[in-house]
Amino acid sequence: MVYVVLGTQWGDEGKAKVIDYFSHQFDYVVRFQGGANAGHTVHVGEKKFVFHLIPSGILHEKTQVVIGNGVVLDPVCLLEEMESISREVSFEGRLWISNKAHLVLPYHKWLDAAKEKKAKNPIGTTLRGIGPAYADKVERLGIRLGDLFLSEGDLTSRLEKAYEVKAFLLQKYYGMDVPMTIEEILREILQYREKLAPYVTDTERLLQKAAAERRNILFEGAQGTLLDVDFGTYPFVTSSNTVAPYALVGSGLGLVDVANVVGITKAYCTRVGEGPFPTELKDSTGEFLRKQGGEYGSTTGRPRRCGWFDVVITRYAIGVNGVSEIFLTKLDVLDGLDEIKVAVGYEIERNGQRERLDYPPQSWEELEQCKPIYVTLPGWKGKTAGVKRYFQLPSEAQHYIEFLEMQLGRKISYISVGQDRTDVIER
Ligand code: IMP
Repeated sequence: MVYVVLGTQWGDEGKAKVIDYFSHQFDYVVRFQGGANAGHTVHVGEKKFVFHLIPSGILHEKTQVVIGNGVVLDPVCLLEEMESISREVSFEGRLWISNKAHLVLPYHKWLDAAKEKKAKNPIGTTLRGIGPAYADKVERLGIRLGDLFLSEGDLTSRLEKAYEVKAFLLQKYYGMDVPMTIEEILREILQYREKLAPYVTDTERLLQKAAAERRNILFEGAQGTLLDVDFGTYPFVTSSNTVAPYALVGSGLGLVDVANVVGITKAYCTRVGEGPFPTELKDSTGEFLRKQGGEYGSTTGRPRRCGWFDVVITRYAIGVNGVSEIFLTKLDVLDGLDEIKVAVGYEIERNGQRERLDYPPQSWEELEQCKPIYVTLPGWKGKTAGVKRYFQLPSEAQHYIEFLEMQLGRKISYISVGQDRTDVIER
């Protein structure tokens, strides 16, 4: 069976916990896009693990993990991450990285920072070099992981081609010094070669074989649907396709039957970085959600913007991903609120006329002008935190869930009510 599990909002929906929750049923857990911009936190008992590149399935002994061709790989970050969990897990024969994954190199991070600094409307990127690395990929200037194993001469000539343009841009356009010479970069990347060699392979072939043997494969999305380069709030997006169909492109599995697309949806909304966010709360309720939910970026530590649940964008995400069921996360964060609002539509003024929208407009400028139309639901006095059965939830919490299901037209099959991997209600 093949599952795709991904976020239906702006990322940080609590994906790592969900993937960790499902992982024991899967033989392979696969990352197919993004890079070290992702920050996936898993709590196991007292221990906290933060993953940026390695699929969190690595915590399950019997699971093999794959970093697919669609990922942009920062070798420094990967090696650091491996080091940080090497006491807990083994990688030999369990971690596989595509030889076709593009590398994030120092000059991608310099450019990311230079662009953000110079921009009038910065994106608020994670500064991990993601955009410039994907730009090199489509510009055919990228260096792929497998290229590290070329002769030094061939690798140097590829590097020269990519580096020249960056050095020119940095110096002449951004007015910056270039921090490293090409020789220094070459020396640095050659160090990764030996360390990564045991894990590099044609991962598409590995996965195709696994699928033919009817092994269970779980695709782990990073970021969220509204950050997708096509379907997100462009240009305030990341530089990869985060949607479910890309799981197949970013892994080379071919067109197989995907049994289930699980949409991970937080019980409220958050966003890091710039860009439109119709239900954002800049008041004490927003502050309450940030505090209760620990809403600070796990990659950058930035405070996340918080707001009410938005049916319009979630329904849109269900469509572009083909979501079949929903895993609702962080319901317990809403414990203690007197009332809870849900945006069920937007209102916008166009040519002097007020219009009601139930689908997000194409431009970020218009989305920014949209005023949410709220339905107000009662909050609950009791706690949902730690509850194990659906019927034990306060009736208002059950009402909230059933209201969302009705609005979204999808079953909420799982509800997460706490940090630990056991804090999940299955319905
Ligand atoms: P980039 O991916 O670093 O280029 O950043 C582009 C946008 O995506 C920024 O708004 C980031 O805050 C956002 N972003 C990137 N990765 C994540 C993530 O894992 N969670 C939430 N937001 C992210």
